Amino acid sequence: MYDNNPTLENIDRKIDPKLQGQVIEQFDNDAFAKKFYIESYGCAMNFSDSEIVASILAKEGYGSTRDMDKADLILVNTCSIREKAEETVRQRLSIFNKVKRKKPGTLIGVLGCMAERLKAKLLEEEKLVDIVVGPDAYRDLPTLISGAEDGDRGVNVLLSREETYADISPLRMGSNGVSAFISIMRGCDNMCSFCVVPFTRGRERSRDAFSIVAEAQDLFDQGFKEVTLLGQNVDSYKWENPGTKEVVTFADLLIMVAKVHPDLRIRFSTSHPKDITDEVLYAIRDYENICKYIHLPVQSGNSRVLKLMNRTYDREWYDQKVDRIYEIIPDCAISSDIICGFCSETEDEHKETLEVIKRSKYTLSYMFFYSERPGTLAARKYEDDIPLEVKKRRLSEVIEVQSAVSYASNQKDIGKTFKVLIEGDSKKSADDFKGRTSQFKTVIFPKTGNYKKGDYVNVTVQSGTSGSLKGIIAD
Ligand code: SAH
Ligand code: SF4
Ligand code: F3S
Repeated sequence: MYDNNPTLENIDRKIDPKLQGQVIEQFDNDAFAKKFYIESYGCAMNFSDSEIVASILAKEGYGSTRDMDKADLILVNTCSIREKAEETVRQRLSIFNKVKRKKPGTLIGVLGCMAERLKAKLLEEEKLVDIVVGPDAYRDLPTLISGAEDGDRGVNVLLSREETYADISPLRMGSNGVSAFISIMRGCDNMCSFCVVPFTRGRERSRDAFSIVAEAQDLFDQGFKEVTLLGQNVDSYKWENPGTKEVVTFADLLIMVAKVHPDLRIRFSTSHPKDITDEVLYAIRDYENICKYIHLPVQSGNSRVLKLMNRTYDREWYDQKVDRIYEIIPDCAISSDIICGFCSETEDEHKETLEVIKRSKYTLSYMFFYSERPGTLAARKYEDDIPLEVKKRRLSEVIEVQSAVSYASNQKDIGKTFKVLIEGDSKKSADDFKGRTSQFKTVIFPKTGNYKKGDYVNVTVQSGTSGSLKGIIAD
């Protein structure tokens, strides 16, 4: 049934399903002398980075275009998380090179997480690209571009211990004008054995808390109603005020951003089960505008597999965390990421993953089968020994169980009224709005009254599928 991992390129679905692997909607602006075209893949961090890149390029006189044929510079912000993500980028590069053949002089650049691993191959062996720039080197883009204009292929994949782009105001592209991402930290210091991120994005570092609050304030002043604070492991956010030496934790930061305005909703992603504290849970409970939604990836329901994955918690610890969340915030929704068919996973261990989905009552999960990544701990230490058909079958079982659990959760919402933030028209009909509850559930409801995109409205749920809710405006 599943030829491809259904969520392969789509791992940022938790943030905004519209954005995955798609061209960011861009503005065409004739005021700029030159044009760039950018496609982004992978997680929300990458989409957020593309907005930083757009800001850097704007200062150099580059405006963005939606049409790659018109571009002087074609960029692809890449992801390495699974093999399929890399394959997709390679296909895109061959298409960009066709454009270049028609219009010599067009520059092609690879940004993001594939940069480090494939720099030599892409630049020298295959001569597919003119510049390769890693996630911490975007300030160097103008220099690399002007070098490439003179015929020098350029590369900068240096990772930094300090770079957070704190002073760069991202140029919001493709935004619905209602919600925006704010990057609060970069890199990751965890060493989950399956994961390539610590290698592609380097050491963890937290961004100046005041620059984060200022960005949130600025977004609210522009009319945005929701911000998502982004990091690979937001709960380990820690920033020391150089003046006072005071330390700002993630719980402190949440509260600082929540205080920008009660009408600004705060979301965050991703929480690592080992690091989420009671203080964070109390902040979510105590501030109405901090959304009652936690993405708490379990990866596997079995303690032996979790140990091999180097997740540093076991099943018992995870179950206790989930219980604690529901105890402190009874109306909280929890979602997860799951990997099926990790090295040596048995059928019984797989069944424990099915169990943890039911026990945790996830409202949604992002589900993948294991894809070995060169250089990771797992690639070096463990054999990728689960046959592909078995991985796919286990994945389909995980999807089936999650779908039933999501359906049951949505059925329980029928008759309840939720405060919904209107994100725009529903995809299917301009007569309906689409919005989200605090719990990150999508609600579709007929347009009545004078409501518009960006308004909050109370909606009573009348029906639900596994994917969304339908309702009517209650007031
Ligand atoms: N920092 C986040 C996850 C970032 S990657 C966290 O720790 O939760 C997003 C998801 O991709 C992971 O949670 C994991 O489920 C999946 N993933 C990462 N590496 C993978 C691999 N090698 N094969 C399959 N899925 C993987
Ligand atoms: Fe990867 Fe683990 Fe870091 Fe998440 S916490 S980015 S899964 S190493
Ligand atoms: Fe992919 Fe890099 Fe994000 S590997 S998932 S784009 S951090």
